[in-house]
Amino acid sequence: MSFEFLHSSQNNSANSAIQADPSAVPARFEADVLVVFFESDGLRGPVVEIDEATGGLLQQLHKQGEITGKRYECVPLYAPRGLTCKQLLVVGIGSHDEVDAGVLYEASGAAARRLSGKPRATVGFLADGNWSNDQLEQAVAGATMGTSGQDLYRSEKHQTPFEKTVWLQAPVEVVQRGHVTGDGVKLARRLVNMPPDDLYPETFAEEAATIAGRVGLEIEIWDQARLERERCKALLAVARGSTRSPRIVLLHYRGPGCNDTSPNVAFVGKGVTFDSGGLSLKTSEGMLAMKCDMAGAAAALGAIASIAALKISVHVVAAVGLVENMTGGNAYKLGDVVTARSGTTIEIHNTDAEGRVVLADVLDVVADLKPDCIIDAATLTGACMVALGRDIAGIFTNNQSSCDVLKNAARSVGERVWQLPMDKDFDSQISSDVADIKNVGDGRLGGAITAAKLLERFVRDIPWIHVDIAGPAFADKPRPSIAGGGTGSMVRSFIEFTKRIASKKEQ
Ligand code: BES
Ligand code: ZN
Ligand code: ZN
Repeated sequence: MSFEFLHSSQNNSANSAIQADPSAVPARFEADVLVVFFESDGLRGPVVEIDEATGGLLQQLHKQGEITGKRYECVPLYAPRGLTCKQLLVVGIGSHDEVDAGVLYEASGAAARRLSGKPRATVGFLADGNWSNDQLEQAVAGATMGTSGQDLYRSEKHQTPFEKTVWLQAPVEVVQRGHVTGDGVKLARRLVNMPPDDLYPETFAEEAATIAGRVGLEIEIWDQARLERERCKALLAVARGSTRSPRIVLLHYRGPGCNDTSPNVAFVGKGVTFDSGGLSLKTSEGMLAMKCDMAGAAAALGAIASIAALKISVHVVAAVGLVENMTGGNAYKLGDVVTARSGTTIEIHNTDAEGRVVLADVLDVVADLKPDCIIDAATLTGACMVALGRDIAGIFTNNQSSCDVLKNAARSVGERVWQLPMDKDFDSQISSDVADIKNVGDGRLGGAITAAKLLERFVRDIPWIHVDIAGPAFADKPRPSIAGGGTGSMVRSFIEFTKRIASKKEQ
């Protein structure tokens, strides 16, 4: 099932195994560590059983205030009496009424991250039978994701995946689904964390081809010559400042039991493998994290890989526009007018507003395929971070009902999104004196919206949702569940969205 194998330089062990043991007796489970989830309002569910086996140890520590159950607090109890595991790790998940799939993803991620600090043979996670399948799935995804971090290029690894992970008292199918979801997140994180001199358009396309081979996706890679034949002159203009040639990669997934009338979703990703700003050069500080500017493309790839491995009954296409935005002698310039594939002309006022110029062509390519719905993910604007901070993605749409499905999907997996307006009066802000449109708004105000307004021009009348992940795609500082770096933002929401489209359930 697993498709995100460890990077060869990351670790010498093979892909770590995941199992489910629906009828395990936790007190008699032999493991290096058993993880239990603890609510701040006291003992409940399977924790009671563990407490009884230990002669009331957890109850006692809770009374003493040693175990509070506060979110993501991790209390290790070594050689716990009455249990056969060598360590019991008690992870806080906050108050019972506020436990949701997002909290469980973070909590098991935090436990996995902490425990991966040392090699471990077997780690057990004790599921709570009262959780919904969706909640359990996200908990498993968090544990899968949490054991890997920013070790790709470290000689001495900070994290080691467990040889074996066992989910106790959990159904096998749900555990497998959660693991595949976690794999998609891991894939997106790994690509974002790769340095830009190793991950550039050509090598991103190679990574996509490898993944396509593993999960059985059809892949098309459009090289420079094909992009020229396809008149993708907007994307090509951005790429001109770099010695690395651009690519568009299209991945096609045809779900089992689908026919031509089955739902058809397109995911589009901004894949700027490095954004120097071009001639509108960024400062060193502004440029440092710009290897993350392909996080939208990574999310699209991570999502379609998981969707294929999960065999969801939907048609999906993922399309990513891959370029490096540099300042070479042939770089596109301010005042240039580029003709996008759709025929729309774009006047360049700022070469650092390159993502929308790239996406103009990718959206047009995808619109030709006539999907029922297009969702794009892009680290598009600093303005979106000014509006919503580091942890919340901005979403924009031309079709409220599809947008509501995505909002509900995101909420149910614990990814935070907030819709911003697309009122018509913003359109005039991207009108140009010499071309059909210009690539920035008038001034900086409402910058996330004017960027979305430019994209809207290229989706024709297809229902479309744009997700600006400039904030949540990359963590500058460590969090309980993540060491920092790429977060895999929107992979889980996109998978959940696709499941909902497949089952036509909208809540
Ligand atoms: N890739 C950046 C946006 C970004 C900023 C992503 C910070 C993640 C973190 C994008 O290409 C960009 O530079 N946008 C400009 C647009 C402006 C020139 C209109 C921005 O936001 O400053
Ligand atoms: Zn830029
Ligand atoms: Zn950018």
